[in-house]
Amino acid sequence: MSGTGSGRTTAAVALGANLGEPERTFKRALSLLEREGDVQILRRSQWHATEAVGGPADQPAFLNGAILVETKLGPEELLQRLRSIEDHLGRDRSSEEPWGPRLLDLDLLWAEREGGEPVELRTDDLVLPHPRMEERSFVLVPLAEVAPDHVLARSRRTVADQLAFLQERGGLARLDTPDDARAWCEAARAGGATLGFVPTMGALHEGHLDLVRRAARENDRVCVSVFVNPLQFDDASDLESYPRDMDGDAAKLASVGCSMVFTGTLEQFFPGQIEAGELPEDALVDPGRAAEGLEGAYRTGHFHGVATIVDRLFDVVEPTRAYFGAKDFQQCLVVEDVARRRGGQPAVARCPIVREPSGLAMSSRNARLSDEGRAHARVLSKALDRTRSAWRGGLRDADELAALLRAELQHPAVEIDYAAVRDPGNWTADAPTGLLERAVALVAARVDGVRLIDNMELSAEPSR
Ligand code: PAJ
Repeated sequence: MSGTGSGRTTAAVALGANLGEPERTFKRALSLLEREGDVQILRRSQWHATEAVGGPADQPAFLNGAILVETKLGPEELLQRLRSIEDHLGRDRSSEEPWGPRLLDLDLLWAEREGGEPVELRTDDLVLPHPRMEERSFVLVPLAEVAPDHVLARSRRTVADQLAFLQERGGLARLDTPDDARAWCEAARAGGATLGFVPTMGALHEGHLDLVRRAARENDRVCVSVFVNPLQFDDASDLESYPRDMDGDAAKLASVGCSMVFTGTLEQFFPGQIEAGELPEDALVDPGRAAEGLEGAYRTGHFHGVATIVDRLFDVVEPTRAYFGAKDFQQCLVVEDVARRRGGQPAVARCPIVREPSGLAMSSRNARLSDEGRAHARVLSKALDRTRSAWRGGLRDADELAALLRAELQHPAVEIDYAAVRDPGNWTADAPTGLLERAVALVAARVDGVRLIDNMELSAEPSR
């Protein structure tokens, strides 16, 4: 995997430090890097002083820089080299806090094989290309000096364009009522500009941010709603304990190209319609047949609540396109049906599930898992993976696929609500029988007291 001996690799490395004498440390680090003759520095940026982002208050400003190197080493070996230089120069990992002071940070940002083919890597230690570099001006500023024309994997913009984009769109409007949001959206759409919309319940993670990034690539402006919708919760304590962090959410959204985030109260979304904290039944939007079975059966009224709020959010925003995650597979079908009944407005994009390196599907609820629970939760994606392997090996019988999925989920820490197989193009409340042409496997289970859902389209083409 490391690719040693298979030609030369070019790679970009970010440097950061705010303890000791950063300039001197950088100089020593670069000479150590070149010392063995198997790494050459092609370009080096100026060193830039930057205010610290996050971490403890009052920590000293950082010095940041970037270099472009050429090497015979594979990416993992280059990472090891960078680590050993950090250690050699006195970095003490045991006493560090996230975003806290650093003696030296050498981050591998991307690597490309000879001919420009990007190295994609996902191990516990290293993800390439670096998942967050595109949102950090303090990385992009020096990087734009050494590799302005490099096309970034996520935004598909050049480094120089991405930096300009962040600087221009850093200004995020925060609105507190649906009426303000409606006015903003009308102005944003004026003159034919396209508007992408990502509805959320906040406590944003990479799964949400991926939807926003895609919306930013495909539309002129992007807006996001953050509303913990009481209509879709069947359990008051679940609603109560749902994580909320509007300031943190706004900071994340500003960094991924979102122009506006809005919220509101149930009363503001449905003025004059709320009685004793509830919307009367006849005001609820029918979630259609996709709401039958599985999540619909386990969470009474859930999809009525989802369909109703999504329909109202579409009224407020009138987006060109709306983005939903396949993580909530049945929800996607429900929302697609709502949009169809609205005459195909907006277009609905179903986006792939974003997972942790362990395979665990990202979710706001994962924050409630203990370390042990998090480890046990891997059983879900592993079982889905194995079921998909069986599909790829030729297994097509609906009962046998579901039985295999259930068998793979057997684990003392995993309490299954359902484990089922459905035809994604023809939703049915009951399990299909016989041979399937298309299939999606879906799971809901309690792990460590936390209810998790996950799914995998068995018949989707392998991505590579
Ligand atoms: P929420 O759970 O906040 O999710 C917002 C959107 O992010 C949904 O479309 C969801 O499918 C997507 N998402 C969550 N985790 C994801 C992951 N790991 N990978 C990809 N996408 C992911 O879903 C809701 O809110 C609500 O039901 C809502 C649609 C906002 C209506 O209230």
